[in-house]
Amino acid sequence: MVKILFVCLGNICRSPLAEGILNKQLKDKGLEGKVSCDSAGTSTYHIGDDPDKRAIKTAKNHGCELSHKGRQITLGDFSTFDYIFAMDNENFKDVKALEKKAKDAGAVIRAKIYLTREFDNLYDDEVDDSENDIAWEVADPYHGSEEDFEECYDTLERCSTEFLKYLVKAHKL
Ligand code: 4NP
Repeated sequence: MVKILFVCLGNICRSPLAEGILNKQLKDKGLEGKVSCDSAGTSTYHIGDDPDKRAIKTAKNHGCELSHKGRQITLGDFSTFDYIFAMDNENFKDVKALEKKAKDAGAVIRAKIYLTREFDNLYDDEVDDSENDIAWEVADPYHGSEEDFEECYDTLERCSTEFLKYLVKAHKL
């Protein structure tokens, strides 16, 4: 079983959407028995909470059910998961700091850590985004509009599609 963890700040908008989208794609391709996924937040803000209502609604409009209770990422996650995806640069930095903590505590690190949009087919690592450091982030829709949730869904769906193609090849699924 290949295990995937999506990480954002609150674990009520972006990462549960990413989890729901990948779960839907896995089901559509009959790969549920080979790949599993979960999500977590770097913060403690929404532990035990359902996903944001706007995230649930956006997903539902795309035929995607979200079923998750908010949790915070743990040091143990670095030994459990094969891939950890951070939604934005801040999440990535926080996840890398936790990975170091887990390493220092003697954990065997299994997870490869990525910025989610490295799998966006619009991603171009030749583009210098240092002037615009949100360019390759999954923007946080929490303080945004319904359109922002829709854009978030579309971005995550593109990334999920490309990542799944990669997984099927890399793990011969
Ligand atoms: P998420 O969005 O990280 O995509 O789940 C947020 C949700 C809640 C908060 C911030 C971002 N908050 O500050 O409560």
